[in-house]
Amino acid sequence: MTQRLGIGVIGLGTVGAATVDLIQSTSAELFRRSGVQIQVTAVTARDLSKPRDCDLSGVNVLPSPIDVVQHAEVDVVVELIGGETVAKDILLRAIELGKPVVTANKALVALHGGPLFDKAAKAAVPIKFEAAVAGGIPVIKALKEGLSANQIELVAGIINGTGNFILTEMRDKARAFEDVLKEAQALGYAEADPTFDVEGIDAAHKLTILASLAFGIPLSFEAVFTEGIAHLTVDDMHYAQEFGYRIKHLGVAKRVGDGVELRVHPTLIPASRLIAHVNGVMNAVLIQGHAVGNTLHYGAGAGANPTASAVVADVLDLARDAQFEQGSVVWPGSVSPLGFLQDQMNALPLRSPEQFRCAYYLRIHVLDEVGVMSQLTAVFAENGISLEGIKQKEPTHEGAGVSVILITQVCEERALNKVIDAVSALPAVQDEIVRIRVETLK
Ligand code: HSE
Repeated sequence: MTQRLGIGVIGLGTVGAATVDLIQSTSAELFRRSGVQIQVTAVTARDLSKPRDCDLSGVNVLPSPIDVVQHAEVDVVVELIGGETVAKDILLRAIELGKPVVTANKALVALHGGPLFDKAAKAAVPIKFEAAVAGGIPVIKALKEGLSANQIELVAGIINGTGNFILTEMRDKARAFEDVLKEAQALGYAEADPTFDVEGIDAAHKLTILASLAFGIPLSFEAVFTEGIAHLTVDDMHYAQEFGYRIKHLGVAKRVGDGVELRVHPTLIPASRLIAHVNGVMNAVLIQGHAVGNTLHYGAGAGANPTASAVVADVLDLARDAQFEQGSVVWPGSVSPLGFLQDQMNALPLRSPEQFRCAYYLRIHVLDEVGVMSQLTAVFAENGISLEGIKQKEPTHEGAGVSVILITQVCEERALNKVIDAVSALPAVQDEIVRIRVETLK
């Protein structure tokens, strides 16, 4: 007898509609790969009167998310509404009913994943979230499966397509920040609240998930240091380029000593690294394992079809794992959705920003006077910070002052903060000092 899996899709926005369409248009291929007839049996959306980009004939269109979860023909729940409150209720109800959930909801996983996954693991209900990080790139699978023999040392990713699109357009076309952001919104890349993209919150959600999978640590969103891109200028991008770097908005999860650094911030990366050439809305995640070395995972990080690709792959995985017994579906017991035994999570200490170890790009605007350069460099020397490079830019007009660009060697952020305070107090220094972190990603 043909085995069937009924899928309930909650949310018919761009990703939801693309998911329904992808399941329907690839059903023969999904069967060939799993031996299971995967069928969308129920859907719901906030506004059911809106026309949708998918065919809903023969599908139960239900009034509410909980109706979908509870529907007798739904074996797997696909949550694509985003947000936290209703999405959390959906997961809790699905876990109670023993129905697996596939979600693209990075905020839900990053902020509430701990207790939800605990419940799911105890009830042996699978939760899958490949689409929550880096859209169509199977980076969750890479960490949980392909690279699972490694001790992961570093995860560094361009994990927000909107931010990368903005930085690329600013650098290549000298376009204004606001103008590019509007285009990213019109193209459907940006979050409902685009400050999540530009302030690094979206990337911090994703980094939280990646770090937990990489190091086996609890989901720790509140420990991620987050800095956005709104203050970056085209000048900084060009100056960075003169030193052989590109500026990217990077999420970094790094094992340092016996602890872990979790940070999202604009970053200078050597232009010679492959990841420095990831442009537009594309994402890439560099993963460094002790056995495998460096691996780079690249692809579309946002958009309807790439995200649907990840959602449907999770559905297919569930279809392969499902055990069909006397008319009902049974799910094999599982470890935590994070890929670790629930009682074997690591307690690696999370390092505070003062303890971060980085190199730094600094732009200091000074009066064009004799002796200023030696005053600046003396402060660095007094605090034991070596300089990798230094350049003075020509003044734009008479009396305008000059920008001095410095790149430091790796030092502790605590020491760098002291230097910035001391340099800012010099009478020749005008304006706030611009600081951008540097990662060599070796
Ligand atoms: N706003 C997100 C981005 C969508 O631009 O990457 C995908 O998570």
